[in-house]
Amino acid sequence: MIGFVGAGNMATAIARGLGEPVYATDAGSGRAAALVAELGGEVMPTNADLFKRSETIFLGHRPDQLAEIAKGVDATGKMVISMMGPTTVAELQAAYPGATVVRTMPNTPVEVRRGVVAVAAGGEPAVELLSRLGTVVVLPERQMDLATATAGVMPAYIAVLAEAAIDAAVCHGLDLKSAKSMFLETMAGTAELLIKRDGDTLAVRREVGTPGESTVRGVAALERNNVRTAFMDAYHDVLTRLSRPYTGGAIVTD
Ligand SMILES: NC(=O)c1ccc[n+]([C@@H]2O[C@H](COP(=O)([O-])OP(=O)(O)OC[C@H]3O[C@@H](n4cnc5c(N)ncnc54)[C@H](OP(=O)(O)O)[C@@H]3O)[C@@H](O)[C@H]2O)c1
Repeated sequence: MIGFVGAGNMATAIARGLGEPVYATDAGSGRAAALVAELGGEVMPTNADLFKRSETIFLGHRPDQLAEIAKGVDATGKMVISMMGPTTVAELQAAYPGATVVRTMPNTPVEVRRGVVAVAAGGEPAVELLSRLGTVVVLPERQMDLATATAGVMPAYIAVLAEAAIDAAVCHGLDLKSAKSMFLETMAGTAELLIKRDGDTLAVRREVGTPGESTVRGVAALERNNVRTAFMDAYHDVLTRLSRPYTGGAIVTD
């Protein structure tokens, strides 16, 4: 069985996507027991036990817990898959000598097997397993922060867009149920259409708009309100955050 150190949001999404019994631990919240109740498997009394019993282990804890957790376990011969944004392959190797370490950046849609998992080059041994969760993209390690900005955090941005559009529809008089259903299905359908058209966003936009009519006016309003600048700024802030020493939450400014 696959092991999960930590049963938080991302570990749970991956475990659900894989859809099989797990070994799991947590730091006392009871989330490991909830995960095991859902998928089957066993809560392990310690991380050392979890490493003993599993061949493949996902690290679902926060980056600042790496040293403390690795200290008490023997990972020799195991595959250790990290989902910690800023933690490098070299740091993982130093923490888990003798293991095959894999640096990944997944996103939460792995839960429904439509996720993206970026894998730092060298992590190829995990690609077959991770492909069960959606699309796997192998990248040079130096681009892993960009994977965090493009895939890891993106479900939150898309949720904000959905919220804004649904709120606007309700504000203008549409009932919430219809607003949700129309927007979410449009979002999913447009994603499929864009994939079919090989990401040609202009083609999809032009097929919707008639010159001078409602679509182009709506798009112009989005541009007036700096939708592109908002995305540029979001990338800038995420990448700036990732390039600084991780302190468990606070941004280090010096
Ligand atoms: N959330 C995302 O969308 C996302 C996307 C990509 C990458 N990530 C990365 O995934 C990692 C986890 O993020 P998250 O959002 O899932 O965080 P989270 O919900 O806070 O989960 C962290 C988990 O680690 C457990 N934990 C802490 N110390 C432990 C220990 N000593 N032994 C065993 N388990 C321990 C916690 O236990 P308790 O439940 O007892 O507190 C919790 O279950 C982070 O590195 C994050 O950067 C997250």
